[in-house]
Amino acid sequence: MGQEMNNILVIGSTGQIGSELTPALRENYGAESVVGTYWSTEPTGDLTNGPMEKLDVTDRESIAEVIEKHDIDSVFNLAAILSAKGEENPQMAFKINVVGFFHLLELGLEYELNRIVNPSSIGVFGPEVPSQQAPNETVLRPTSMYGVTKVTDELLGNYYYHRFGLDVRGLRLPGIVSSKTLPGGGTTDYAVEVFYEAIREGHYTFFVREDTALPLMYMPDCVKALIDLAEAELDNLEHHCDFNVSSMSFSAGELAHKIEEHIPGFTYAFEPDERQKIADSWPDSMDDTPAREEWGWEPDYGLDAMVEDMIEKLEVKLGQDAT
Ligand code: SER
Repeated sequence: MGQEMNNILVIGSTGQIGSELTPALRENYGAESVVGTYWSTEPTGDLTNGPMEKLDVTDRESIAEVIEKHDIDSVFNLAAILSAKGEENPQMAFKINVVGFFHLLELGLEYELNRIVNPSSIGVFGPEVPSQQAPNETVLRPTSMYGVTKVTDELLGNYYYHRFGLDVRGLRLPGIVSSKTLPGGGTTDYAVEVFYEAIREGHYTFFVREDTALPLMYMPDCVKALIDLAEAELDNLEHHCDFNVSSMSFSAGELAHKIEEHIPGFTYAFEPDERQKIADSWPDSMDDTPAREEWGWEPDYGLDAMVEDMIEKLEVKLGQDAT
């Protein structure tokens, strides 16, 4: 049996995933029981409907203070430097992605936390991995600093579970597509930017080749995966910090064609930059059998439903911005 989540801390609430996970958790657990945190981006909108704290994940004392103040027993850690930004500043990526997580693990022991959820990524894979249906268990030799930090986190989290019994969980998220908050500094950012530019400008220049295919997921599935994994029975889990989770895989060209079906006259071009190398080192798709078997993972959205919903939501949002 796992222990309950009562008072939850979400680190990185103003980021792409945090801005949607925090309200979803508040819906399920009550607004006062879910404390959001931010660092460089001030919270706005529905994020201010519950407690918010400014917190630097690399500062162990400031995390400890928030844990004590709100009697926190469970943490979702969404603070991370993504793959492209990680190549610009590998040292900072290590500090935030590894040292920050290490502080959480140690605080998890000190405060006897019930749960720590730390997302991993398709970034853990390197070029040796089969590009179709990359297995859950495979060689992990990433060539990006982001990947190096995420493999380290997976190993550390699994170690703290087996060595100390700390309930740490994580899943290898694909690139996440969403309409509320833009991602920042990732290789899969093109799959979000293209929607904004298609609606605003009618044109987008992809920074990857047309045939670049990667695993991607729509935000509602991402939020569902994070919460379902966190709530899964501990006794059913054989894996802990390293579940593949997949929902769809498509190339940049396929995405462009699909958007064109909804926005006639949309034009696009492909000018690969340094992010192409990172994309090429990742698989096109993942096999997620352990997640399906151990905690019942099943995605709801495919490419058609996602594109339709993204365009509908962004037309409203960007229409409002323009007025
Ligand atoms: N979206 C991430 C990135 O591109 C992948 O986990 O870095």
